[in-house]
Amino acid sequence: MMKEVVIIDGCRSANGRAHKEKGWFRNVRADELLTGVLDGLFARNPKVDPGSVEAIFCGTAKQVGQTLDIGRLAWLAGGYPEHVAANTICQQCPSGMSALEHAARAIMVGDGDTYIVAGCEDMLHVPMAMGIDFAPRLGKRYPPGSITMGATAEKVAEVYNVDPADMRQVALWSNKNAAAARDAGKFDSEIIPIEGEDEEGNKFMVKTDQWIRDDITLESMEKMKSPFKENGVITAAMSSPLTQGACAMIIMSRDKADELGLDYNFKYVGGAMAGNDPTMMGVGPIFAVQKLVERTGISLDQVDVIELNEAFSSQSLAVLRELGIEENAPFKKVNLWGGALALGHPLGESGARICITLMNIMKTDKPDAKYGMATLCGGFGNANAVLFERIK
Ligand SMILES: CC(C)(COP(=O)(O)OP(=O)(O)OC[C@H]1O[C@@H](n2cnc3c(N)ncnc32)[C@H](O)[C@@H]1OP(=O)(O)O)[C@@H](O)C(=O)NCCC(=O)NCCS
Repeated sequence: MMKEVVIIDGCRSANGRAHKEKGWFRNVRADELLTGVLDGLFARNPKVDPGSVEAIFCGTAKQVGQTLDIGRLAWLAGGYPEHVAANTICQQCPSGMSALEHAARAIMVGDGDTYIVAGCEDMLHVPMAMGIDFAPRLGKRYPPGSITMGATAEKVAEVYNVDPADMRQVALWSNKNAAAARDAGKFDSEIIPIEGEDEEGNKFMVKTDQWIRDDITLESMEKMKSPFKENGVITAAMSSPLTQGACAMIIMSRDKADELGLDYNFKYVGGAMAGNDPTMMGVGPIFAVQKLVERTGISLDQVDVIELNEAFSSQSLAVLRELGIEENAPFKKVNLWGGALALGHPLGESGARICITLMNIMKTDKPDAKYGMATLCGGFGNANAVLFERIK
């Protein structure tokens, strides 16, 4: 019989702007961010012995430089036990969610009771374009430039006929909601303060996300131009910004959690990944969510809260409309504390981060919500979706 998997806790660093002069974490290494989050996670879960962890599954979109096999190396750098192995997973943006799915499946089949699921991306020290060398044969199938992220967002806007005014509305709402959530202290329980420095170089403990734009207006966004295409519609405001961030969670078999007397509220119900046309990678969640609904038998009407990673405004709206979830912002059940347009999107981290935020929303703002879903698209046409159920 399959074991039940419960989520014990999850936390993250604040998201820093990946900017070499202004980023609050500009002098913090990627592995230090992840180790800092692991330290915070274990400090607040003293009943969970790091030595009892079966393995770490960590998502990172780019396994190079400071993020090379970061699941293992950040663990070792933190002084954690050598006998705990790690698997650093690359599935582009869904890497962190994929890490969760791998770890949950391992517990379900009885391969150990306790796993750390993590995600980390440092888009400053490990830029998106670093080390890319596309196969010539791939270039014959997909014309050069057609699978770069901005180009795919432009294509989705065109093919799915997404109006720029609607996309600006999403960006506005995302930033306003994220700012409101931050000001109400809603992220406090998930953010582990890590030392960084402000724009002037003064050291401080970073406790809030740097990208949230308090001064955002529809008018200022109207004047912006697309950096991706001549006369294009996708501007920086409609794109998730370049970010540094890390997150980690403890997941466990329900039996073990009960044996240790741990608190938990949610169980992992299931996950699904789906591939789609890489020139429109952003609409991948349509297919992953459809698969998940079919696989779990839980319809979208039964899902009370959804986190959809806002890679770009165009793909977010296309996905929500095609799935019949929402027409436009303000959203009723999606990204209630803002999304990646405002909070940032450290690629391989986001898939796990949105699960942590989802469960915090369900705990605090939606105590009656039974099901919560998180989904995100990924570069080159990889999308994932996962479902959680409140059991306590
Ligand atoms: C879009 C992108 C190229 C912009 O990069 P950038 O030029 O370094 O971004 P910035 O944040 O500096 O924004 C550019 C300008 O727009 C302004 N701007 C950005 N968002 C704004 C907003 N919501 N309202 C008003 N102005 C805004 C900035 O202030 C800046 O203006 P300035 O140059 O006068 O300071 C980059 O964020 C990107 O590539 N994002 C997508 C990342 C990605 O592909 N992720 C994977 C998804 S699957």
